[in-house]
Amino acid sequence: MARSYQVIDHAFDVVVLGAGGAGLRATLGMAEAGLSTACVTKVFPTRSHTAAAQGGIAAALGNIKEDDWHWHMYDTVAGSVWLGDQDAIAYLCHEAIPAVVELEHMGVPFSRTEDGRIYQRKFGGHTTHCAEGEMAARSCAAADRTGHAVLHTLYQQCLKRRAQFFVEYFATDLLMDEDGTCRGFMAFSLVDGTIHRFRGKQTVLATGGYGRIYESCTSAHTCTGDGGAMALRAGIPLQDGEFVQFHPTGLKGPGVLITEGARGEGGYLTNSEGERFMPKYAPHEKDLASRDIVSHAEGVEMREGRGCGENGDYIELHLEDLDDEVLEKKLPGILETIRVFKGIDARKEPVPVVPTAHYCMGGIPTNIHGEVIDPRRGGPDAIVPGLMCIGEAACVSVHGANRLGTNSLLDIIVFGRAAALRAAEIVNKDEDVPPAPKATEEAALSRFDALRHNAAGANAGELRAKSQAIMQKHFGVFRDEETMQEGIDAMAELADGIDDIGCTSPDLHWNMELMTAHEVKNLYDQSIVVAQSSLNRTESRGAHLRDDYEERDDEGWLKHTVAWLDEARKVEIDYRPVHLETGRDDAKPFPPTERKI
Ligand code: FUM
Repeated sequence: MARSYQVIDHAFDVVVLGAGGAGLRATLGMAEAGLSTACVTKVFPTRSHTAAAQGGIAAALGNIKEDDWHWHMYDTVAGSVWLGDQDAIAYLCHEAIPAVVELEHMGVPFSRTEDGRIYQRKFGGHTTHCAEGEMAARSCAAADRTGHAVLHTLYQQCLKRRAQFFVEYFATDLLMDEDGTCRGFMAFSLVDGTIHRFRGKQTVLATGGYGRIYESCTSAHTCTGDGGAMALRAGIPLQDGEFVQFHPTGLKGPGVLITEGARGEGGYLTNSEGERFMPKYAPHEKDLASRDIVSHAEGVEMREGRGCGENGDYIELHLEDLDDEVLEKKLPGILETIRVFKGIDARKEPVPVVPTAHYCMGGIPTNIHGEVIDPRRGGPDAIVPGLMCIGEAACVSVHGANRLGTNSLLDIIVFGRAAALRAAEIVNKDEDVPPAPKATEEAALSRFDALRHNAAGANAGELRAKSQAIMQKHFGVFRDEETMQEGIDAMAELADGIDDIGCTSPDLHWNMELMTAHEVKNLYDQSIVVAQSSLNRTESRGAHLRDDYEERDDEGWLKHTVAWLDEARKVEIDYRPVHLETGRDDAKPFPPTERKI
């Protein structure tokens, strides 16, 4: 029986959970529309993981060379290996141009061309003339600190609109009515341990990805996918979990991101023989092929004995040939990162890199307005009333099986704004905020209490390290049935420990152990879904590359995986059709063909 807790109640038109770029863009739009809006976040807004985005935000501005948003759309569809929904992709690429101009007007300090326009650089998989022309220069960059610049600007704009922030609150569970409508969520303050009920007419999950299911990743330690796990506990599925992107240039060791912009500015990769190997795998795009192609190529080079160093376990990135001025003006952040983490001066020496878990293409399924979808509620596009999701937490799906670099900053801005537009349309400011359902609140409190008062329980940190190591080994760049099944069995052995996680102290003031306990359970549940979804898909597509099913199989697998997790942690899988139509007159769809990029 749970102890009784005093619960502090908050009621708003909209409650946004998460203050990365998506959460802030949604909060800004909602506050601007006159909705009372709370933004609740476990980290201070400007410390959100968006700050780590380096290379830029895609938009076919054509500032450096000719461009067209339809070419951007083609690249995104082909990059997604046709698993992306084309209505969502058309919307993303069309809205990209006004979205970036709007950011410029808000004050994002973009780098500039000689004539004062926004600077744009090349990035992997972005081409002109639908891969018939040369590489596009489409990534709008603020040096190599674009995410940082965007995040700070959005936070300032939210403050200007007087949006209300609740900083350093950890959300535990969604509050779902008996009829399946979301009424808000429960959270506790990390600072003083007080328990809070956030009620809203709409709840928006903007909680980021679950990159930390892996041992080595470019994601911040905060990227534990708390929103995805809350959704799973509320009976809402995750979509396309098998697609996890490995970035070709994570710094060997710490896994820190070295932007693809480094290759966009002229950097290149070599193997132990000093060979520039990418032309073998992608004769046209070479080092600027899509990420899945470059990461796979690096993996093959290492597997076939051409990895660098004593253990043959890395690839070298060369920036030595770039002008010092380019490095210092366009890539100052990575020069510093490489120096701090590896003691290397990248102007003079090659940089050791490896494919590193970077981005979750999968997430909570949504439509293009950010409304959460659950096919069990009446068809493939049935929505969950009261619940929205945006950013990396969501699967809208614009990235399909493989995301193009710089399309993620774009995704958070475009769909953060779309969610705000939708909320402004459907939320009635004059109605009272509905009460919260008692049953789910009590269940949330009991779960919280059980974790808090289990001093003899299993150690969360140890279990996290074990499950991350399993995911790293069994669900990496190369996959096959035997390796993945072994991984699933090894994860199952951790289940009892996960159910028994505890905290040595029940203290409620900055009890990091208590927060970690919640996070590790969240990571574990999402790992199970990723693992089962990966084993289930018997084809190779984008980031999901199987040695035992090497071909893409459109007949059998041109469909989204949708996976639910029951209380016994059994994963149930079903499918949703991919949207192959754009639903608009100004953009024709791109039917599935052989991939050129
Ligand atoms: O390489 C990068 O700068 C990462 C960008 C992205 O993931 O969009």
